[in-house]
Amino acid sequence: AIRPLILSGGAGTRLWPTSRDTMPKQFVPLIGERSSFQETVLRVRGEDFSDRPIVVTNAAHRMLVERQLAEIEAVADLLLEPVRRNTGPAVLAGCCLIAEQDARGPVLVLAADHAMPDVAGFHAAVKVGLTAARRGRLVTFGIEPDCPATGYGYIEPGRELPGGGRTIDRFVEKPDAANAARLISAGALWNSGNFLFQAKAVIDEYDRLDRETLAAVREALSRADRQSGAVALDAACFGRAAKTSFDYAVMERTARAAVVSLSCGWNDIGSWDALWSLSSKDDDGNVPHGAVEFVDAHDCYVSSNGPVTSLLGVSNLVVVANKDAILVADRGRSGDVRFVVDALKARG
Ligand code: GDD
Ligand code: MG
Repeated sequence: AIRPLILSGGAGTRLWPTSRDTMPKQFVPLIGERSSFQETVLRVRGEDFSDRPIVVTNAAHRMLVERQLAEIEAVADLLLEPVRRNTGPAVLAGCCLIAEQDARGPVLVLAADHAMPDVAGFHAAVKVGLTAARRGRLVTFGIEPDCPATGYGYIEPGRELPGGGRTIDRFVEKPDAANAARLISAGALWNSGNFLFQAKAVIDEYDRLDRETLAAVREALSRADRQSGAVALDAACFGRAAKTSFDYAVMERTARAAVVSLSCGWNDIGSWDALWSLSSKDDDGNVPHGAVEFVDAHDCYVSSNGPVTSLLGVSNLVVVANKDAILVADRGRSGDVRFVVDALKARG
């Protein structure tokens, strides 16, 4: 069976002020009743998948994860990070834990903050990737791009592989807009941020590319606090792992990558604007949540969890009114909300 490894330790700063350090976006029910973390757990249920996914998350969010799992009657093994080291060490730690029992079985890494309305389409793509993964390839899932977005990885596919998928000629993480446009005209796909491989393949690549991080993660695991259902990594050792995403650390540099096309209505819910696009709108293109009133307002995303919030004669705004913080932003600029968060942090 395929072992799901769910990455749920990101900060999600671009969805401030709803997404916070104490409650990152993957745990917030932004669309519908369930959080994207819960949707992700439910996405990998079924006979093809092991019934014990591993959830890698920040130790501070253990209770939150356990509560959200209980709400959907799911079980998982938790792998707890004492400090945030980005996705590279999180994936590697998961692979080292899995390799203790089964180094060669397929592992499916899932980001916890994506929407995939067509689950069957996702499962079909995973099936196509299995042969390549079983032959030691690091398989990722490519999305047909619709604009030169700078927040994604870009994949230039190469030759076709027997059994499904294609090799990757070039993987470029988060190019600038000009390079993104160039990559798209050369036929590149977006990296969806989900991966399929054997635990051993990832460990071998780290052994070649970043031995210090492999040693740090291995030691963090051997000194981990192992309880039933949760493994808490050792803080001092894990803190020595390079703070680099899996995309930069491995995907840009490996010669063993492969890509399978994915079409499943994928959206990474990366910004308020993405959420506006995904949500159903009223006749004026507005998305209201909570006590919200519109007069001659168009194409706005407005959410309030308390204060009555009224918009008059404006368009293309994001307004998020929470109890202790309010965001007003141009919808097209909402990808830059992290700069607001940085500025607030700098003020202390
Ligand atoms: N456990 C753990 N620890 N999870 C983490 C950490 C960490 O330190 N940092 C991030 N994550 C989780 C996030 O919660 C999310 O589910 C996933 O890992 C991806 O992290 P992001 O921080 O959202 O990555 P990104 O969106 O900038 O880029 C990635 O996803 C894009 C598609 O959405 C890359 O894989 C890109 O290449 C890709 O295009
Ligand atoms: Mg993301």
